[in-house]
Amino acid sequence: MKLLTTVRQMVQAREASPRPLGLVPTMGYLHAGHLALVKRAKEETAAVVVSIFVNPTQFGPTEDMATYPRDMERDLALLEQERVDIVFAPPVEEMYPAGYSTYVEVEGITSRLEGERRPEHFRGVATVVAKLFTIVRPDCSYFGQKDGQQLLVVRRLAQDLNLCTEVVAVPTVREPDGLALSSRNAYLSKQEREAALVLSRALRRVEELWRGGERDGEALRQEMRGMVQAEPLAELDYVSVADTAALEELGTVDRPAMASLAVRIGRARLIDNVPLVEETP
Ligand code: PAF
Repeated sequence: MKLLTTVRQMVQAREASPRPLGLVPTMGYLHAGHLALVKRAKEETAAVVVSIFVNPTQFGPTEDMATYPRDMERDLALLEQERVDIVFAPPVEEMYPAGYSTYVEVEGITSRLEGERRPEHFRGVATVVAKLFTIVRPDCSYFGQKDGQQLLVVRRLAQDLNLCTEVVAVPTVREPDGLALSSRNAYLSKQEREAALVLSRALRRVEELWRGGERDGEALRQEMRGMVQAEPLAELDYVSVADTAALEELGTVDRPAMASLAVRIGRARLIDNVPLVEETP
């Protein structure tokens, strides 16, 4: 496994790489959710690049950039075990040198849900992902369904800017009790972790109701709201049942949709979602 830290090294390595080339973009502090992306990339491509970069432009001024969990040594050991070919871990000055002034905005879907609460977030994500796609030129790139809105934003970005990569969605990895894996789970105390189960319980309930034929969007949102509000350690940020094309809240769930929510528990802000999509036989 090669560890590369400059854009120049990465461009040279990509030129010498067998194809198809897969990219798994991460901010490090890897868990089984990231490793599921890596395993899928290993199955589908001839060489895999994992990027590790805590991207400053996607954090707001009051967010957890400085304290975002990091453990490069452990990350490298995990990736070595997965037989990853290249780890691209540039320092901030390599990605954003002095004078840097170009940003990518995806309009529309970025103004809702996470985008509404974190105004600079998706501009930062779209910018760094566009840079990674340009530097690595992956044939396939792998993103978790866990960050459902990010996945839609990256798909739009790749399509609109003709970035020529297939964006592959990998299902959310959960603990046996339902908690979606996230690097931010590291912030939870034992009691808070127990309270955090309310996110997956609420989503499971909504999925059950939807499978049972409930198509009233507000009734589904109300079910989630009620469950979160009944959990004393949880502070609800939003619940949503929105279509996957424009992320507009649905009155009637009559097209492919995503149920999602964001909840604060202690110092962690957690998000989770389930797709509400009819399976085609
Ligand atoms: O999902 C993440 O870890 C980040 O948002 C990403 C896609 C690596 C961009 O920094």
